[in-house]
Parts: sequence; structure tokens; C-alpha cells
Amino acid sequence: MNQHTDLDIGPMHEDEFERTVALVAQAIGLPLERMRRPWIKLGYRQGRVARKHGKVVAALGLIPMGQWFGGVSIPTGGITAVGVAPEYRGSGVGLALLRHTLEELHTTGVPLSSLYPATVTFYRRLGYERAATRTIYEMPTQAITIRQQEPDIVEVEPADYAKLRQIYSERARRTAGNLDRPDHFWESYLESPDKTAYKYMVLREDQPEGYIIFTQTDWSNPLSISDICFLTRDAGRRLLAMLAAHRSTIKTLQWAGGAYDPLIFLTPESQHTVTSSLDLMLRIVDVAGALTARGYPAGLRAELHLEVHDELLPWNNGRFTFEIDAGKAAVHPGGAGRIRLGVRELAMLYSGYLTPLEVQSVGAITASEQDLLTMSQVFAGPRPWTPDMF
Ligand SMILES: CC(C)(COP(=O)(O)OP(=O)(O)OC[C@H]1O[C@@H](n2cnc3c(N)ncnc32)[C@H](O)[C@@H]1OP(=O)(O)O)[C@@H](O)C(=O)NCCC(=O)NCCS
Repeated sequence: MNQHTDLDIGPMHEDEFERTVALVAQAIGLPLERMRRPWIKLGYRQGRVARKHGKVVAALGLIPMGQWFGGVSIPTGGITAVGVAPEYRGSGVGLALLRHTLEELHTTGVPLSSLYPATVTFYRRLGYERAATRTIYEMPTQAITIRQQEPDIVEVEPADYAKLRQIYSERARRTAGNLDRPDHFWESYLESPDKTAYKYMVLREDQPEGYIIFTQTDWSNPLSISDICFLTRDAGRRLLAMLAAHRSTIKTLQWAGGAYDPLIFLTPESQHTVTSSLDLMLRIVDVAGALTARGYPAGLRAELHLEVHDELLPWNNGRFTFEIDAGKAAVHPGGAGRIRLGVRELAMLYSGYLTPLEVQSVGAITASEQDLLTMSQVFAGPRPWTPDMF
């Protein structure tokens, strides 16, 4: 795979920062300044580069974060800003850099990695698979006919930021695929550098039940909801009623949600449009570690015998006995290997993106109907999604 035996891969050095930002900006097709800003937030220490003859020829950013599955936040290496210098593309440099990064994650005990793909083919070669949806919706403000003054809405002060994070974590626990956001993600929502971030919180008897953060540009553009979270129907309806109160000047709302988005369920008519949708891809870096870390349905007892195939990461290959009891899993090497599947198929199941019977119709999985039905119960849960882009 790697034709470049002389590639030197490892953490970015401080004096490689500018060269790396320029390389990735060119690769992704973004102005230099728009690329420099997230890299400064992330920090050069999170850069991983491939050098040839001492010069950076490829780079990526590694974001330490978590992702929620089965009610548990699982350590995840978020991959961002992947770029290879044009003259080195197509010769294995990108694959070598990503592989090195996956090996590093394994060494440091991080069982998952996720990213947004510019090309699915490339990341599938690396064992990533579609695992959570991010859909951009638009809706006319006139379509929101909810008029509701309860519960109270108050402006959010910096002292309330911790409450917002609590509401978000509770939503993340109840759903699947949401990120356990690093601090710098929160900072960019709460204190946008070039636009005012308007922030409001729903309170019932002083208890926060929901919040919204949004930005506005002008009348011709949608009001852009950067983050919205509600734990009760009333809180969701109250936030929508507040958004509807913008209808004299704002024609459209825009937000990022899941395939089955709660805001859509709260609006009386189907007047929304989907403007785009991009799936996040997940890589199971460590099969045993990832299966053990996740949460499972509390009342279920089950035993599955897996035989996993992973072309890239050798420690994931082989048989695993996977026992579920009281919402937790115990995983041991060995067993009968009755369910044979690839590591990408496991990513779709693990995240709940597809059910086992759905995976069977699109992927590499061999199992009896009975084992597939047991697996359906083990991985049962909400369809995974995330509002965050990175
Ligand atoms: C995408 C990118 C990172 C891949 O790195 P690379 O070093 O060129 O790729 P490699 O040579 O290591 O990988 C080769 C394999 O990946 C796949 N692949 C690579 N680039 C691809 C592309 N643009 N589209 C589809 N498949 C691609 C192919 O399967 C290829 O295998 P093959 O040559 O046997 O067909 C690189 O081309 C790049 O920087 N592109 C521009 C920026 C970008 O898209 N970044 C990704 C942001 S998520």
C-alpha cells in the first residue's frame, strides 16, 4: 500500500505549522485564513504529518473527543483537515498517514475514530463506514404556527454555559452519535468570532429544559441555528414559538439535525426542505475495546459469537465472544465465530446506523437469522446523528 518507504510520519512540529495550514487549505479548497483559525484552536500538537525528505507532504488534525453510543460517551479520535500535496496524491501517502494515526489511537487506548468524508471510497479502504447522519434543514418561519409563552425563556449569560452543556449531555445520552464536544467546539458555538451568537435558555421553575444558539446575517439569509437542544416537548415548542416570532423579518430557518429530527415532529405541517445531508463515518479502532465501552439495553441477556475481518488493523481480526448483561458487555477472544462480518459492517451495527438485517442486504455479514435477530436487540437504539461539523 505505501510505496513511500522513506515517509516520516508523526506529530507536527511547531515550525511546520504554516506550511501545513497552507497545504491543507489548498487541498480542501479553502482560503488560508479560514483554515488557519480552526488549526489555531486545535493547536499544532494535534497535527499529524507525513514528511518526505524533511518536508511536510500530507497532514491531518486529530481531535480528542467522545461519541455517544448506548448512553455512554466513548473516547473517539476525530479526524479533520486531511490533505495530501497534489504531487504526492494517488501514491499511498494518504493511506499511510491515516493508518499511522489509527495505530496511534489504538496505542493510546482510543477505541473509535470518526470523520466527515470528502470521498467515501478512500475512507472505506481504511475501514471507516457510514455511521451517523447530519442533515441540513430549512423551514419557512411562517410554517411555525405554534404560539406559546410557557415555559419562560431567558437570555443566556456566561455563568449559564455549564447548564447548556448539561442539557446537551443529557440529550446526547438519550440519543446516539452525538459528539462529546471538546471545549473549543463549545467556544465556537458560544462566542462566534465574526457574528453575534444569540443564546436563550428555557427554564421551568428555574430548571433548564432546553436552549438555542443562533446567528443572523440579513433579511435575505436564513436565521442559522447553530445549536438547539430540548429535553421536553414544551421546551421544544417554546423555542419554536420564539423562532416564529421572528417571522416579520426572517423568512427561513436553517439547522443541522438527524434523519428523524425532533423539530420536524413538533411543527404542524411538513413545509421543511432538506438542503443537504452528509454522513459521518466511524472506524472501530479496537473491536474488543469499543464493544466493551458501549452501553446496551438494560433488560437484555445475550451471547454473540463474532468472527471479525479487518484488512488494516490486525488486532481486530479473529473470534470474539460478546456477552451482554445488565446493560454492559464482556468481550473475550475466541468462541464459535458464528457471525462473520467485516469491521465496516460492525461500525454500522455498533452505531445503530443500520439494523443487522439491513446490513445483510448491503454488506459483508454471514449469520443465521436467529443470530441476526439477537443482534438486532443488542444494538437496538435511536438512529445516530450529530449536528456538529468538523
Ligand atoms: C483524498 C486524499 C486525502 C487521498 O490521499 P492520497 O494520498 O491521494 O490517496 P492514497 O494514494 O493514499 O489512496 C489511494 C486509494 O484511496 C482511494 N482514493 C484516493 N483518493 C480518492 C478520491 N479523490 N476519490 C475516490 N477514491 C480515492 C482510492 O481507492 C485509492 O486506491 P486506488 O489507487 O487503488 O484506486 C488526497 O487525494 C487529497 O488530499 N485530496 C484533496 C483533499 C481532500 O479531499 N481531503 C479529504 C478531506 S475529508
